[in-house]
Amino acid sequence: MRILFLGDIISKSGRMALAGGLGALKARLDVDLCIGNVENAAGIFGITQKVIDEIAACGVDVMTSGNHVWDKREGLALLDSRENLLRPANYPPGVPGRGFVVRETRGTPFAVINLQGRTFMTPIDCPFRCADAILEEIPQGVKIVLVDFHAEATSEKQALAGYLDGRVSAFVGTHTHVQTADERVLPGGTAFITDVGMVGPIDSVIGVRKEQVIERFMRALPVRFEVAEGAVCICGLLVDVDDATGRSREVVRVREEIEIHEEQ
Ligand SMILES: [Fe+2]
Repeated sequence: MRILFLGDIISKSGRMALAGGLGALKARLDVDLCIGNVENAAGIFGITQKVIDEIAACGVDVMTSGNHVWDKREGLALLDSRENLLRPANYPPGVPGRGFVVRETRGTPFAVINLQGRTFMTPIDCPFRCADAILEEIPQGVKIVLVDFHAEATSEKQALAGYLDGRVSAFVGTHTHVQTADERVLPGGTAFITDVGMVGPIDSVIGVRKEQVIERFMRALPVRFEVAEGAVCICGLLVDVDDATGRSREVVRVREEIEIHEEQ
């Protein structure tokens, strides 16, 4: 199975890039399954039904998220109603939604697990132990298991990837929006990248207009953030997994620049 992971899809800019470029990219890379992180998809923070429908129509099959998925009230109901939409599994019991899903594509079963880090982030439940518990729950016959780890610290991402090496097919970091150049297949067969990057505007600070972020850093006053304009990059990771063993054979970092022509 050939799987394309997309980094955090940033607001309208990211959605327009998917509408303009994802179909051709998937065809060129011969993608069977596309996974994308949507926590920043609606107005930078959170999700709405319209936005989730739009991203699904662009060809994203399973959507993961992170700390910002709670930011729009409308999104909470979606987490309960949409089976292909995940929130991090290691939030405490009682929060809306689900943290992993088992589905199939072209007759091959696969699982997607969404986890979130605790270093420099809200100290939720342990992602290591949560991953162990979920892997116990996933049926033995499901060989292809994919993890989105939404975390700030590169060390925490690399540590959890090492902990899960050989037990999951691919482990992809999200949240920092800056693609790292360390993609590889770990010794146990797990495809890995510390951060897959974003689907968002290139001339920005992690998707936001530069001058607003500079103002925030220089004066430490609250600033309203808006998505930047201009050309967008679709950052992702292509993983080729052996269906029979669930081990990754190949990993390719993807970075595609898309011109946005429509008024934002
Ligand atoms: Fe995040």
